[in-house]
Amino acid sequence: MAPPLPRWIAHRGGGTLAPENTLAGIRLAARLGFRAVEFDVMLSADGAPVLIHDETLERTTNGHGPVSATPEAALLALDAGGGERIPRFIEAARLCRQLGLFANIEIKPATGLTAATAETVSRLATELWQDAPEQALISSFDLEALTIAHRLAPQLRRGVLYEAVPDDWPDFFRAIAATTLHCDATLIDDATLRQAAALAVPVFCYTVDDPAAAADLRRRGVSGFFTDRLDRFSGEAGL
Ligand code: G3P
Ligand code: MG
Repeated sequence: MAPPLPRWIAHRGGGTLAPENTLAGIRLAARLGFRAVEFDVMLSADGAPVLIHDETLERTTNGHGPVSATPEAALLALDAGGGERIPRFIEAARLCRQLGLFANIEIKPATGLTAATAETVSRLATELWQDAPEQALISSFDLEALTIAHRLAPQLRRGVLYEAVPDDWPDFFRAIAATTLHCDATLIDDATLRQAAALAVPVFCYTVDDPAAAADLRRRGVSGFFTDRLDRFSGEAGL
C-alpha cells in the first residue's frame, strides 16, 4: 500500500532557506527531515524541462529574457543563486528518488507551451517513477496540462491547483481522477473545506509559514501545507 500523503511539503525545493528550485534546496529539505518537496517545471527553447518558477530569468538567476527563448545549455550555465544552477527536471527527479522524497511536480508552462510542457513532463515522469514505491504528484494551475497528464500518465497522481477554488471544482477534479485539491491558504473558505471533506478529497494549501496559521487551517480541515519556512516546521516535517 502507498504511504499516506505528506502533511508538509517544502515549497520550491528548500523554500526561502536555499535558492529556489535548485538541487541544494531539495537536499536541504531532506536534511531538515521533510519527506516531500514541490518544484516548478518549464521548458527551455529547445524543449528541455528545467526547474524554474518565472517565465523570465531576471528574478532568480543572472540571466535575462524569457526561459522559453533560452536553450537548455545556456540555462544550465546561469547562476540560480549562491552558485547553484538551474537543475534539469531529470536531475531533480533522480535526486528525489535517491533521497526517498515524495515529489510534487508543478507543471508551469510558459505562455503557449501547455501541451509541449505537459507531454514532456508526463513522459519523463512515467520513466523516472517507474517501479517507485510512491508515485509523484503532478499539479498545475493549467487545467489543460492536467488533462494531458491524465491522458498520458494516468498512473501518476494529480493535484488540481487554484488560487481561489471555484464552486464547480468537483467537476474537473472527477474528470481527471485527481487525488488532491491545492489552493491559496488565504483564499480557502469553510464551505469548500466541508465539501472536500464530504468527498474525502485532501486539501493542500500554499504558502503557510506561520505555525499558528497552520494549526488553524488544520483545525478547519486542511490536510497538507506548502511552506517556505522549513525551519519553523522541522519538528513535524516528516509527517
Ligand atoms: O504548488 C503550490 C505553489 O507552488 C503554487 O504557487 O506560484 O509558488 O508555483 P507557485
Ligand atoms: Mg509551484
